[in-house]
Amino acid sequence: MAFKEKLQDEIDEIEKILNSYLPEETGYQKTVIKAMNYSVLAGGKRLRPMLMLETYRLFGGNGKVVEPFMAALEFIHTYSLVHDDLPAMDNDEYRRGKKTTHAVFGETMGILAGDALLNYAFEVAASAFEIELSSNVAVALKVLAEKAGIYGMIGGQVADIESEGKHVEIETVEFIHKFKCGALIESAMLIGAILAGATQEEQNKIKQIASDVGYAFQIRDDILDVTGTTETLGKPAGSDDKNSKSTYVSIKGLEQSISDVEILSARALNTLSSLSCSNTFLEELIKMLIMREK
Ligand code: IPE
Ligand code: IPE
Ligand code: MG
Ligand code: MG
Ligand code: MG
Repeated sequence: MAFKEKLQDEIDEIEKILNSYLPEETGYQKTVIKAMNYSVLAGGKRLRPMLMLETYRLFGGNGKVVEPFMAALEFIHTYSLVHDDLPAMDNDEYRRGKKTTHAVFGETMGILAGDALLNYAFEVAASAFEIELSSNVAVALKVLAEKAGIYGMIGGQVADIESEGKHVEIETVEFIHKFKCGALIESAMLIGAILAGATQEEQNKIKQIASDVGYAFQIRDDILDVTGTTETLGKPAGSDDKNSKSTYVSIKGLEQSISDVEILSARALNTLSSLSCSNTFLEELIKMLIMREK
């Protein structure tokens, strides 16, 4: 099967898992649940649950314990996008080809839907204990919490917002990118490895791979903000310029950014090939991200 077809099959498989964990739209809290489900079901590449599942498989994982974590991480990622799009942050009207959550449900429900997705994510992740009562699950939960918080995604978002309209050094952009975007990608791959029982040495390699993949992914996101169209991206092109963001592209230029994505991805693939196990789909996925158009 060609990679593109395998990719679509995998997205379908992930969406089934996401659906199975989404809350029912009933009760007095129905409006916020509708907003949560709207945001999650709007689409997206499902990259983080995919990286988690494929890293789990890389180390021989074949159980169901990874599923609640896959759903939880996509819920956290979706909440981060809902809040990132709010008027107080990037103030964007489109996401995943649809109106943003606050544009449809109002700003208050946008805030609450984000909060609700974050809490619900941990409710879902903790249900992994009902599948497997192990210390791996406990360790994975801690990684999920840490990488979403001040030592992860939120930390990066803070520096991103505080750098608006300022000239910052490339080291600051590196921090922003590795935290606001890289952290959730690291949690995806590390949780996959932990749940499959990877050794400490293997987990260290996964951290290096994920750090390179996450950084490259956000540089590509900055590139597409300049070179992409709103139609293809499903979110407004030129959002960084509108908000006077310091991006990798604004500091290093387009050409250097494109070549740095290649260098980081090649290093990730090289580290991956130094492991004693392999996963061709994961390799192809990392290669595809270099040239992705959305
Ligand atoms: C967007 O992430 C935010 C970044 C960290 C760059 P994605 O590009 O993975 O967004 P979806 O999930 O496909 O919509
Ligand atoms: C945001 O980065 C990453 C998070 C949501 C944590 P961006 O602001 O560049 O993401 P997009 O371009 O809106 O998807
Ligand atoms: Mg942002
Ligand atoms: Mg944004
Ligand atoms: Mg962006």
